[in-house]
Amino acid sequence: MKKKFVLIGVIVLAIICILLFVFMYFKALDVKFKNNIKVNVNEKVYNTDFIVKIKNGKIKDKKRLIDTSKVGKKKVFVNFKNFFNKSEKRSYYISVIDTEKPLIEFNDRIITEQGKDIDLTKGVVVKDNSLETIEVKVLGEYDINKTGEYKLFYVAKDSSGNKTKEGFVLVVRDKIINQDLTGAKTFKTSKGFTGYVKNGITYIDGYLIANKTYSLPSTYNPGLLSDVLAKANVMFAAAKKEGLNIYISSGFRSYETQKNLYNNYVNRDGKAAADTYSARAGHSEHQTGLAFDVNQISSAFDNTAEAKWLSSNAYKYGFILRYPKGKDGETGYRYESWHFRYVGTDLASKLYNNGNWITMESYFGITSKY
Ligand code: DAL
Ligand code: ZN
Repeated sequence: MKKKFVLIGVIVLAIICILLFVFMYFKALDVKFKNNIKVNVNEKVYNTDFIVKIKNGKIKDKKRLIDTSKVGKKKVFVNFKNFFNKSEKRSYYISVIDTEKPLIEFNDRIITEQGKDIDLTKGVVVKDNSLETIEVKVLGEYDINKTGEYKLFYVAKDSSGNKTKEGFVLVVRDKIINQDLTGAKTFKTSKGFTGYVKNGITYIDGYLIANKTYSLPSTYNPGLLSDVLAKANVMFAAAKKEGLNIYISSGFRSYETQKNLYNNYVNRDGKAAADTYSARAGHSEHQTGLAFDVNQISSAFDNTAEAKWLSSNAYKYGFILRYPKGKDGETGYRYESWHFRYVGTDLASKLYNNGNWITMESYFGITSKY
């Protein structure tokens, strides 16, 4: 009899235990997180963002930002309260990935001086969502001792292997025409060239411009540049070998000199006429130290052997026929077979255009108007 009671007791207890177990089993905290979670580096995500199901409990945590600053696998914890109000910690993994390319901020046209050391990465900024410091490399070849335009690339790669490659042009100019344009105010011409204004002087793509639109300060007094004179002498010597006599008849002219010259022409021919062949003070290329007139300063020079030779050969020495025939509408001046200006052989060859001279105004997309 006693045995029977014990047996019933054990069975009841077992049933209670089973019921309790079943109850506990069905009331256990059940949380599910998303699978295969991928977030971008430095993406703003919270530890509670990836819960897809909570049964028999609730979140105990205040939502916390997950540190996603480093690429890789990361374990994330969330605290819950279960059905019985007890804390339970659960975790899941996320993969922090980086699929974004670095961003390179750069100047797509760098103008520099022949033979001068240059750090092409100076001022180049690389930004990346990983916030890591990324080195920028220069790809391509150039010769700093040789004038010309070199197509190069900036390359930046983040630690996840995302790569950015951007092209830029390195322009190597000879010392004479290259100017220090750092800190200059810039603008764009109608042909997309960058204009710079520094100390009251306008440069387009690094070339000093003096015409009816762009003037020089009255105090700008460089004299005829010795390097320009040296180049001119090389050119005159080459002409001499062919029996031609070319010489400078008007070189540098100061603001004051030009003022007097122009005023004399105005008194003689009137302002409208003077403006077709003489520059107002501050607007003459003679004030730049880069230009000069040769031989007879008149149309009598036009058909001479010297004028013909210069028109066909000056570009080889870096000089241009500044006011070509029929280009009054562009340059603002009548044809001047005697006026030459130094721009270096690279640009001179382009403007020479196989004998069909292009003006600086047309090439750069600028005006020459008062
Ligand atoms: N004859 C040119 C335009 C000057 O006066 O500068
Ligand atoms: Zn002249």
